[in-house]
Formats: sequence, C-alpha cells, structure tokens
Amino acid sequence: MCGIVGYIGNNKDIALGLEALKRLEYRGYDSAGIAAYDEATGTIVFAKAVGKIENLERKLAGSSIGGSPILLHTRWATHGEATEENAHPHADCKGNIFLVHNGIIENYAQLKQKLAERGHTFASETDTEVLPHLIEHFFRGNLEEAVRKALSLVKGSYAVAVIAKEDPGKIVAARLSSPLVLSVNGSGGFVASDPAALLAHSNKVVFLDDEEVAVVRQDGFSVSDLKNNLKEKEVTELEWSLEEAQKGGYEHFMLKEIMEQPESIANALRGRLLLEEGKARLGGVEHLREKLRQVKRMNILAMGTALYAGRVGEYMLEEYAGIPCEVDSASEFRYRKPVLDEHTASLFVSQSGETADTLAALKEVKDKGGLALGIVNAVGSSIARGTDAGVYNHAGSEIGVASTKAFTSQLTVLALLALFLGRQRDLSLVIGQCIAKELSRLPELVAKTLESAPQVEEMAKKYKGKENFLYIGRKYSYPIAMEGALKLKEISYIHAEGYGAGEMKHGPIALIDENFPTVALCPSDSVYEKMVSSVQEIKARRGPVIAIATEGNKEIGQLADDVLYIPKTLEMLTPVLSVIPLQLFAYYMGVLRGHNVDMPRNLAKSVTVE
Ligand code: M6R
Repeated sequence: MCGIVGYIGNNKDIALGLEALKRLEYRGYDSAGIAAYDEATGTIVFAKAVGKIENLERKLAGSSIGGSPILLHTRWATHGEATEENAHPHADCKGNIFLVHNGIIENYAQLKQKLAERGHTFASETDTEVLPHLIEHFFRGNLEEAVRKALSLVKGSYAVAVIAKEDPGKIVAARLSSPLVLSVNGSGGFVASDPAALLAHSNKVVFLDDEEVAVVRQDGFSVSDLKNNLKEKEVTELEWSLEEAQKGGYEHFMLKEIMEQPESIANALRGRLLLEEGKARLGGVEHLREKLRQVKRMNILAMGTALYAGRVGEYMLEEYAGIPCEVDSASEFRYRKPVLDEHTASLFVSQSGETADTLAALKEVKDKGGLALGIVNAVGSSIARGTDAGVYNHAGSEIGVASTKAFTSQLTVLALLALFLGRQRDLSLVIGQCIAKELSRLPELVAKTLESAPQVEEMAKKYKGKENFLYIGRKYSYPIAMEGALKLKEISYIHAEGYGAGEMKHGPIALIDENFPTVALCPSDSVYEKMVSSVQEIKARRGPVIAIATEGNKEIGQLADDVLYIPKTLEMLTPVLSVIPLQLFAYYMGVLRGHNVDMPRNLAKSVTVE
C-alpha cells in the first residue's frame, strides 16, 4: 500500500529522502508528499503532488524546502481520491504536527466527529487526517506521549511516522498490522514502511512489532509499548538486494502477493463486520441503502479473474440474498441489448478499475439510467468514479500480472455484500451471525491454507512436464476451476480448461488418458458426492487426479493420485481457500518451467484497450 520514509540527521537535502522514497514506488502510488522541519524558521514546510514522485520532484525544483527531521510518503489511496488535499503528510490545525500513514483507521468517522465538535477542522477526505488532530488534542510538548495517547483510541491498522515543530529532535513512529522498520547509523536515523527504502544506508534494521512506539533520533532510538513500557529490540542484519527487499524476500511479486492474502483479506474485512447483529457495514453503499432494498435482479460484469469472482458472487447473492444474478463478460455485455429496469442493479468487479471492456459496459448501463455498483481495488479509478456506489477491496497494490490477492479480496467483499443485502431481505439473524463469524476467521484459515506451499511445490515438480490440464468443480467450486485453469495458462503457458464437473461427460472426458491430469475441487460441501463420482469416472480412464479436499477427508486419498487439503469453512467461503493451492500450483509450475511469472508473455496488468 502506501510508502513511508522518515529521516533525522545532518543531511538537510531532500534528495536523500526522495531517493529512499523512490525505492518504494514499485508498491504503487497515486500521489506523493514531503514535510521537513526548517530549523532556521522553526516551521515545518511541506509540498504535495498528484501522480508519480517525479511530479513532486518537479514541484520541489528550485524551492528551498529541506531540513530535518523529514517525512516523505507515496500514497496508494484507500479513502478519498488521488488529490493534493488527500496526499500525505497530513497536519493538525496549527501546523505543528505532521504525519504520514499506511493502513486504515477503522473508527475514523467517530473520531472525526468528536474532534470536529471540539473545533478541529479537516482539509481532506482521508481516514488518516484524524491522527494528527488526535495527537494535537493530547500534545503538551512531548510528541511520543501524545502519539501513545492518540493511538490507544484508534481501531484499525497503521504504520505512522510523526514530527512536531514544537518537539523537533525526533521522529515518532508506531505500528499496528502495517509494517514499519527503523535504522540508526552514522548517517542518522531512518524510518520506513519497507526495508527497501533503507538498504542504501544500512542493512541493519529493527522491525517494529504491533502497538510499539519508537522514538528515533539522529544518534539513537528507543522503543516502548502504548503504555510506555520500554521494549528490548533485536537488530536484524538483512542480506537482501534491493530487488529482493522490494519483494519482501520472496523470489517473485506473485509469491509475495499470494502469501500476503491473510493480510489483504483482513483489510477487506476491517471495520465491516457486525458480529452480534450478523450484518455487514459497507460505508460505500450506505447512502443507497433504501434503493438497494428494492433491487430484484443483478447483473455482474467483469473480465478475467474478476469475472470468476463475480461468478462466485452469483452463488452467494442468490443463496443468501435471494437476488437472481446474471454474470457476463463485460466485453459481451457491452454489445448485447441489456434489459435494465428500476429494480436491476449492475455490479462491476475490477481490480484496476480501468479495464476497457468493464468501463464500456459501465458506460452502457449509465447511459440507460441503470444503477451501477462497484467492487474495485484501485481507489479513484475510472470504474470507482463512474459507479453510483461501491465497496473498495483494500487489497493494496498488486504488482504481479496474475491476479491473486485481489481475487480473494473480491470474494471476501462479495460475501460481505451478500450478507449486507441478505440481511435487508430474508436472511435470519442466526445465519447472518454465522456468516459474519466465519468471515472473521478467514485470515487465519487462509494463513493455514498457505502452509501447504512446500507440498504444492513438490507436486508441481511431479507434474511440470504435462502439457494439458482439466480443472473441474461444481457450484461454488465451478468458478474456482475456471480461475485455477486461467492461472495455470497465464503463468506456465500450459493448456488448461476449467469446467463444471457435470459437463465432463458431455465432451471433455474424451480428452482423459494417463497423460491428461485433472485438478478436481472436492471440498466437503453439498455437492461432494457428485464430485467423487466425477473423480471415479476419470480414474476409470486412467487419468491422474489432483484433488483439493477438506481436512480430515481420508476417502478422497484412496481415489486421487494427490490431495491438497484446505481447512473446513462455510460452503460459500470455501472458494477463498480452495483457490490458494491452485494459485501456488500455477506459480510453481511457471517457475519450474523457467517463465517470468511476474510478467507473463503477451499479458498486461491492466487491459485498457478493447
Ligand atoms: O483490473 P481488472 O480486475 O478489471 O482486470 C481484469 C482482468 O484483466 C484480470 O483479472 C486478468 O484476467 C488477470 N491477468 C488475471 O490474472
């Protein structure tokens, strides 16, 4: 998500901070900003620009901005579009406190209201801006004390770096569920959201843990918890190259993003579950609450992986909200004659929010006066702006061309939407509570599923020479079969087909022989027995079978050649888990076959042409 850099030391030239910030630009950006303490005037000077860091550099050229301590930030928007007002650093009312933030402040609306009642004025639409104002509220001359008090009131996730002109000899940094690292060496003290920013200066770093507050000075640092108990911290010596650091030590962005899924799903859920009420709180669609209650039919429109998320959404929305859905490729929908009425909503799912076909389908719906909803990852993107209401994924920037963490966050948001719409209709409190509870467990279940990575890698070694694969599933697992096949095609260039298992006998079974493996999605759900029959039919034709099954299922092991287990969860949420071994399988197959998995041939991350 966002990138943070902080520096305190003798070097007052902004070039040092800008160079470090550029090391974080790979994470995505929509705007950048800088704030520096100018000793001569005793003020904090700042500048912001929309777009790349070079836009900020251009703005700063010829200016006298500089000093120490200094904070820099690249923003990847979560609340509010990419504008200068929304860019960080954000400040308090008096221009004393400046802060940069990565994460999401869940209770910002409540905090903002209370602060506004006390006379604070706000200049942006961001969740972040409440933080400098909250710190201002507690500030009595000691910055770390005010930061500690403010952060004890905050719910959500944060990595923050803060400076104050009235307490200028330090940077105060803190984290909760968002990474933050510091380093103090001969050149001064550094803070960053990512070690990649610091490597040019030192490879000896200290990783902050949750609810720790660091005071970083030019020649030393101390770390304490939110109650001001001092903590001993270990210095870690990194042996990473810059590129390795940007990938968090993983070999590829795709693997990093697969492994980030517990966190990206937690971000998609953050602040949105009402466990007691068995409901979802979706701020982005709240203003249309009454209109949404009248929706009787839904079109779900998207492309590629986002389309398969939409197909899972169809099952969720029909089963739990009772809303009939039609899912279509946006590229087909745009040339059809869509029948829309005042009770039809069209839901657009897109990671980038810029996919040309999805955008064209959106335009078609809007031109006809239809209600358009969005599930989008990129804040302020064309689709996010063009829809009437929507829910952001908050998955962070996805760099690998193959969509992985964006997909599972789309599924998570679709489940939240089904819960939201379901509880407006016939869905009972008890079932709502059960869905909300299980959704809250997802990050933990995903982390458990990821433990199978070494086993998947071994399996890929066994199958890497195969040139064709069939993926089959039923009901919720049918779109996952299609997504698994798409991942394999994209990354390993192996021919793969995703089918509904019921279709197999109507054609694809002709392909099966001992050289044509099938990946069969067989979780213990309402269609498990049917899947077992399909697997039996494949085995009767000597086809190798890799089964994805629920932990504890021993039966399937007697039938399939290989089994990858996933934890038990609700049938509607199983796709979030079952797709993970398929993502890993595609990744390892691609790597073993020597392909560039982050930038597969012929593909672009965002398809902005028809
Ligand atoms: O940005 P979008 O979600 O709208 O992109 C849609 C597809 O282009 C995208 O999912 C594509 O299929 C990916 N390469 C899949 O890994």
